[in-house]
Amino acid sequence: MLRRLFKFFAAKPHMEPIPQDLSSDRIPQHVAVIMDGNGRWAKSQGLPRIAGHHSGMKTIKRITKVADKLGVKVLTLYAFSTENWKRPKEEVEFLMKLPQEFLSLELEDLIENNIQVRIMGYKEDLPPHTFKAVEEAESRTSHCTGMILNFALNYGSRKEMIQAFREMAADVQDGTLQPDHISEEVYSQYLLTRALPDPDLLIRTSGEVRISNFMMWQLAYSELWFTDVYWPAFTEDHFYEAIRGYQQRARRFGGL
Ligand code: IPE
Ligand code: IPE
Ligand code: MG
Repeated sequence: MLRRLFKFFAAKPHMEPIPQDLSSDRIPQHVAVIMDGNGRWAKSQGLPRIAGHHSGMKTIKRITKVADKLGVKVLTLYAFSTENWKRPKEEVEFLMKLPQEFLSLELEDLIENNIQVRIMGYKEDLPPHTFKAVEEAESRTSHCTGMILNFALNYGSRKEMIQAFREMAADVQDGTLQPDHISEEVYSQYLLTRALPDPDLLIRTSGEVRISNFMMWQLAYSELWFTDVYWPAFTEDHFYEAIRGYQQRARRFGGL
């Protein structure tokens, strides 16, 4: 198997220390990221769009490493939406090869670092080679008890909600669910995030200020952080900046 010359986490001891102004007792448990701007970044460099996606993979590595170091418990990365199938066939094909490439390079190091990989999305619609790679990553890291690296792949919030309604309706029909027992907690159990806390912080790169069908139920009380930086150019320092911003927010959840 192809191994890189330098390893993902081997660099850990040489990594920059965590900025002192970040308070370790207010690290968001769950950070969700809409990784956007790969295509525009590539264009700005005079490169084809796919080069942006490729470069964005390096950012995934960087941000996984720094989130783990900070003590984030769940890092959810929006990698491919249910709407991204609308893109040109060649681009979709390229995107569908990236999980394999990323995992073949990084899986060993993720395991070594006790990171559990999960896929949130409709895996059955993925091409077989992509499906196989992500299934393998999930099963080979299922024993890991550290940070959860949750890839939203072929994920869409509306589809997730519709699926949940269908399953609830089926359970009502066969008598295992009473309509008046449907609560926020019960509904949450029908979503793809059933075992995860809601995101505390949502980061979106590239200057777009929208949700693009991402975790609409789960983001109800998340702090939102938008930056103009394109995903391939997003660094550890930008991540710290987002965490710093988060730590300055007063979360009231409707209270005082
Ligand atoms: C994000 O970058 C990656 C995916 C949506 C798969 P884009 O490909 O959307 O890049 P822009 O937004 O066109 O620059
Ligand atoms: C959102 O980005 C999806 C991912 C980052 C995977 P898009 O680039 O698809 O979103 P829109 O089309 O600008 O809303
Ligand atoms: Mg985009």
